[in-house]
Amino acid sequence: DTVDWDPEDAGKGEYDHYMKKEIHGQPTSLANTIEGRVEDGEVDIESLPAGTFTNVEEVQFVACGTSYHAALYGAQLLKASDIRAEVIRASEYDSASGPVDENTLTIAVTQSGETADTLQAIRKAADRGARTLAVTNVVGSTIARETDDAMYIRAGPEVGVAATKTFSSQAVSLALVSQRIAADIPHADQVDDVDVMLESLEDLPSQVEEILETTDAERLAKQYIDSDAFFFIGNGLGHPVALEGALKFKEITYEHAEGFASGQLKHGPLALVTERTPVFAVCTGGDDGKTKTNAIEAQTRGASIVAASPDDHPVVDAAEAHLSVPDTHPVWAGLLANVQLQLVSYYAADLLGRPIDKPRNLAKSVTVE
Ligand code: G6P
Repeated sequence: DTVDWDPEDAGKGEYDHYMKKEIHGQPTSLANTIEGRVEDGEVDIESLPAGTFTNVEEVQFVACGTSYHAALYGAQLLKASDIRAEVIRASEYDSASGPVDENTLTIAVTQSGETADTLQAIRKAADRGARTLAVTNVVGSTIARETDDAMYIRAGPEVGVAATKTFSSQAVSLALVSQRIAADIPHADQVDDVDVMLESLEDLPSQVEEILETTDAERLAKQYIDSDAFFFIGNGLGHPVALEGALKFKEITYEHAEGFASGQLKHGPLALVTERTPVFAVCTGGDDGKTKTNAIEAQTRGASIVAASPDDHPVVDAAEAHLSVPDTHPVWAGLLANVQLQLVSYYAADLLGRPIDKPRNLAKSVTVE
């Protein structure tokens, strides 16, 4: 249930940075993530056969950083299927985890499979009787070995410290796991149009390719590079994308960037908004009316709206700039918006001359608590 990692992947090839190579690697990494896992309109994950999750009453995710944002995505999909789910920052497990028993499924979402906070959290969950699952990129990693089950995201090696292709592969993997869990649990409601959702997944790699070929991200990065701060808002499935957009931006540009749930902007952060703080509005989340309304509140205070949305979305008319998201099922649209935001961060960091693949103070894998 794995793919071989080509040793040539260790080089940057035609790209200036691993991060750019990895952003551009997403059509391939996503195709690998999906391959053989959707058959006849059903999710089929070799390591997680039907019946694996029959006893699950609640799902707990534990994760850090980008993986935490992927977990937020996965939890929303479980909730949409009427399954109890919570997402815990792994470092906060002791205070944030509610009751756990043998009907709890604790999922560690971790690219490396080695993050100390996540490892400690999954160990504690196992001690309390939970069933444990690793969703990881690294075969044979510590977390994959210590959990009851593992699902590999098959993104291939990621060298850039800032996670890119592994986020999209994690989110797709978690979407597939959520459907697998929903199929096992009698009371769960599968997404109404699960057939359409799984069918449109097949187009995701080519839609990422389309973005890579047509993106306006470099021009937008130039246009807004001199801003004081960068805000990212989204709601529903657009919320984790906004959080991830801001995390990526701050990690590699060293500029002040924050992500918020759209409706929360007015509850404090709006005090920071000026004509020098562009607001990236991720309109792929579901109730995007909220995102548009709150983006316009910021615009009224002078901020520019940069909309990441399908071309025919009403936010486009209000926005100063647009990052186009190809038409797809709402479950996948945020992942396409995220590719656009990855590119904006990359080009902004490049313009600022930052050491993109190795940002100061950060490590690819943090093995201390
Ligand atoms: C570090 C990295 C982040 C990463 C996080 C979780 O903080 O700098 O990019 O998202 O660890 O890593 P994991 O390997 O558990 O996904």
